[in-house]
Amino acid sequence: MLMKKLTLPLGLLLPLLLVAGCSDSGDDNPTGSGGSGGNTPALSVADAVADEGATMSFTVTASAAPTSDVTFTASITALSAGASDYTLGSASGTLSAGNSSTTVDVTIANDVVAEASEVFRLVISAPTNATIADGEALGRITPSDGGADISFSGTVQSLVSTWCGACHISTTNGGLNMGAGPTAAGLRAAAGSNGAIISIGQAASSNLYRKTTDTPPFGARMPFGGPYLSTAQQNQIRDWINQGAQDN
Ligand code: HEC
Repeated sequence: MLMKKLTLPLGLLLPLLLVAGCSDSGDDNPTGSGGSGGNTPALSVADAVADEGATMSFTVTASAAPTSDVTFTASITALSAGASDYTLGSASGTLSAGNSSTTVDVTIANDVVAEASEVFRLVISAPTNATIADGEALGRITPSDGGADISFSGTVQSLVSTWCGACHISTTNGGLNMGAGPTAAGLRAAAGSNGAIISIGQAASSNLYRKTTDTPPFGARMPFGGPYLSTAQQNQIRDWINQGAQDN
């Protein structure tokens, strides 16, 4: 008899707590479109690769299928200087209610110029009924008409380990330890006191390249104290970064 009297108030209290919890999370919804059911999925866009002359499709995925239509803005940032072989299909995208992914298409021109890989960045922003978890992706155009990419394993890896290893591999100078190998992924993730050493697709703002030139952005030219890399060697590091800092 006593047990039953105790369970009744608890049974009433629990739904009350749940209702309070729901209205709390509803208040956190930044877009706050009333009556939409209150789910606010987070959008992420993934890297993509395509040949010249093809359509490059970036997949935009939601953390959960939205209960009302989600729209967002799409834009392209050119990375390597002079890059212009691509056109955005549409500057806005839609993820319809009930679907958890959609695509943003970019048309890649075929300019019949033999060139190496070219990279650009797709950015999605300003979503309605959603937030952005990862709004940036890299698009890489593969060299379908003859241009050759700088190979990491064939060129850059040995260059860096021979010329930089004594001070930056398994040891730290300027806050920078490039890690064993080095590997392409390790270099992409490596940072010194002045931040990341690679900005993928942008050698002009990558310290891994700029510090090897005769106009380093700060401090000394590398390798510290010389002798220095030849211009051809500097350009191999530059081109590898501009072509996407691939593990190739
Ligand atoms: C003899 C030792 C030595 C060698 C070899 C050397 N470095 Fe350095 N490196 C340093 C020192 C010391 C600093 C800090 C002073 C400065 O930035 O000028 C530094 C700093 C740097 C930084 C800046 C890190 C930051 O965020 O502040 C980069 C990038 C870098 N080195 C790249 C290289 C590359 C690329 C090579 C090979 C081509 C190389 N270094 C070879 C000694 C060396």
